[in-house]
Amino acid sequence: MVADMIHAPEVDVLISQAAIQERVAAMGRAITQDYAGRELVLVSVLKGSFVFCADLSRSIELPLAIEFLGLKSYGDSQSSSGVVQITSDLARPIEGKDVLIVEDIVDTGLTLEYLRKNLETRRPRSVKVCALLHKPARSRVESNIDYLGFKVDDVFVVGYGLDWAERYRNLPFVGCVRQTSPGSKAGSVQ
Ligand code: IMP
Ligand code: MG
Repeated sequence: MVADMIHAPEVDVLISQAAIQERVAAMGRAITQDYAGRELVLVSVLKGSFVFCADLSRSIELPLAIEFLGLKSYGDSQSSSGVVQITSDLARPIEGKDVLIVEDIVDTGLTLEYLRKNLETRRPRSVKVCALLHKPARSRVESNIDYLGFKVDDVFVVGYGLDWAERYRNLPFVGCVRQTSPGSKAGSVQ
């Protein structure tokens, strides 16, 4: 399917809006069960996870708090700089709380590793991870993802919060930008 109805004809759909909705609802149900009776704080990693976190939070049937944390691990290129920077910190302490990091995608895993270590120094009760996407082929460190939406191939994906040079975050699906260069790969999901 081609996304020309929203003026992004160069983006091929990899994971449809319906498939995302179904998976996010299932993740919300699992989180609801696992955290029943506890003080859950969702930490949405900006900017990429803002759309996912908005949907996920509405599929969790528990009282919860939402915090935002701005991280930058990429420039405008498609490969990790390996350097992670906090651009905007949490507004409240997380000491004694059950923290669930909400990430758009775990690629090399460097961002997640940095973030987990950073949050653990703030003495939360627990830290777990919920990621919409994971690219296992590009892992550079072992990533423990407690709730995962989809595994994707080693292709650069956009949409549903994810950007390429700040574009495409508003697409309602996850897709890949069609490349014309030889050797470019078509993606698949598991
Ligand atoms: P990591 O540190 O390599 O795991 O990269 C994590 C961050 O890089 C994610 O939170 C995204 O913001 C960004 N990123 C990684 N892969 C992609 C992609 O395919 N599309 C868009 N952003 C990506
Ligand atoms: Mg990004």
